[in-house]
Amino acid sequence: TTGYITYDEGFGNTGSCQSEITYIDGEAGILRYRGYPIEQLSENCRFIDVAYLVIYGELPSTAERARFSAALTEQAPLRAGMERFIQNFPRDAHPMAVLSSSLNALGAYYPHIASNNHQRDLEHFDEAAAIALSKVRTIAAHTYRVSGGLPLNYPKKSLGYAENFLHLMFSVPYDEYNATPEVARAINLFLLLHAEHEQNCSTSTVRMVASAGANLFASAAAGVNALWGPLHGGANQAVIQMLTAIHEAGDDGSKFLEDAKNGKARLMGFGHRVYKNYDPRAKIIKGSFDAALASLGITNDPLLDIARNLEQAALSDDYFISRKLYPNVDFYSGLIMNALKIPAEMFTVMFAIGRMPGWIAQWHEVASNPKAKINRPRQIYVGPAKRDVPGFGE
Ligand code: SDX
Repeated sequence: TTGYITYDEGFGNTGSCQSEITYIDGEAGILRYRGYPIEQLSENCRFIDVAYLVIYGELPSTAERARFSAALTEQAPLRAGMERFIQNFPRDAHPMAVLSSSLNALGAYYPHIASNNHQRDLEHFDEAAAIALSKVRTIAAHTYRVSGGLPLNYPKKSLGYAENFLHLMFSVPYDEYNATPEVARAINLFLLLHAEHEQNCSTSTVRMVASAGANLFASAAAGVNALWGPLHGGANQAVIQMLTAIHEAGDDGSKFLEDAKNGKARLMGFGHRVYKNYDPRAKIIKGSFDAALASLGITNDPLLDIARNLEQAALSDDYFISRKLYPNVDFYSGLIMNALKIPAEMFTVMFAIGRMPGWIAQWHEVASNPKAKINRPRQIYVGPAKRDVPGFGE
C-alpha cells in the first residue's frame, strides 16, 4: 500500500473493503477499535476519548483531549436557523427523520466543509468532525424538547459530553438536570460501545455515499436513514416495545419465546450477521446495569426481569443455540435508556450519536484515499432474455 488505506477496488464487485479502524472476530466475540479491546476501552475511557481514538487513530494525550473537548464545546450550539428548522417539524415526527434531515442541513450552514470536493472538504476535516460529533447531540436533544412542546435548553461550557446531553434533554427552568456519576458513566458507556462496528449496514451506506465524493454531513445523514431500520439500529426501540408487550400480556417471556421459535415473533436484540457468539458489547452493558439502576433508586425493573428470563431460556434452547443466536448490543441497551426515562423513539437516535465517530472515521478513510473508487455493487441479472416490443420494426 502507499501509506493510504488501499481501498479494495473490488468493493463494488466483492462487497468488501479494507479499513484500519475496527477488528471484529464474530466467532470469538472480539471487538477492537484501532487495536484496543472494547473491554479495556470501556473500563478506562470516556466516550470522547474513544471518539478521538476512532477518528484519529490514537488515544488522545492530555493536550489533545483538551483541544478536542474545547472544539466540541465550541461547536455544541446550533445556528438560529437550524433551531427553527427543528422546531418546524411536527411534534410527533420520528426523531430519526428530524436527525437525518438536520444533519444534511448542516451542509447548508457550513458550505466551506460541504463542498463535495473531498480535497477541499478535507482541509477543514477537524472542524467538520467537531461539528458533526457535537451537533448530533444538540440536534437530538432539541428534537426531544420540541416533541414535548418544551423550550430548548442551551449547552453549558462547564459540562462534559454526556452530562451536557442530559442537561440539554432534561433541564427545566430553575432546575438544571445534574447527572449522577453513575448515570453519566452509563451514557458514556452506551455511546462508546456504539462508536464503531466496521461495515454494518449504516456504515457501509456512509462509505457508499462518500465514495461518490459527497461531504461528511450528507454521508452521515444517509447512515442515519439506514440505521433507522428495525433490523439494524431500530432494534433497541423494538426490544423495549417487545418487553413492554410481554409484560402487559402478563407473560414472563416463556410464551413469547415459543412464538419466536414458531416464527410468529422475532426475539429482538438477539442474533447478529457477524457475532455467532455473545456480542461483547451486550456483556459490558449488562454488567453496568445494576450500578446505574441503583443510582437511580430503581430496585426492581419488571422489564429487566423479563429480559433476564428470556436470555436465560434462549441461551439453553436448541432453537437459538443451533442458529447461533445470542444477545446483541441492543438487547440490554434499551433497558438502560428506559430507566433514564429516555423515550423509546429516541433510542436509535442515541445509537446514532454513539456511532458518529465511526461514520466520521470511515468517511475520512474514503475521502482521504486518492485511490478510492466510486462504489458500484455488481448484480446477477435474472430477468427476461432479450425480446422485442410487439410491432417493433414492422
Ligand atoms: C445491529 O452489522 C452490525 O454490526 C450491526 C450492529 C452495529 O453495531 O452496527 O451490530 C447493530 O444491527 C445489531 C442487530 C440488531 N437487530 C436485531 O436485534 C433484530 C433481531 N435480529 C435479527 O433480525 C437477525 O438476527 C439479524 C438481522 C440481526 C441477523 O440476521 P441474519 O444473520 O441474516 O440471520 P437470518 O435472518 O438469516 O436468520 C437465520 C435464522 C432464521 O431461522 P431459519 O430460517 O434458519 O429457520 O435465525 C432466525 C431466522 O428466522 N433468527 C431469529 C432471530 N434472528 C434470526 N429467530 C428469532 N429471533 C431472532 N432475533
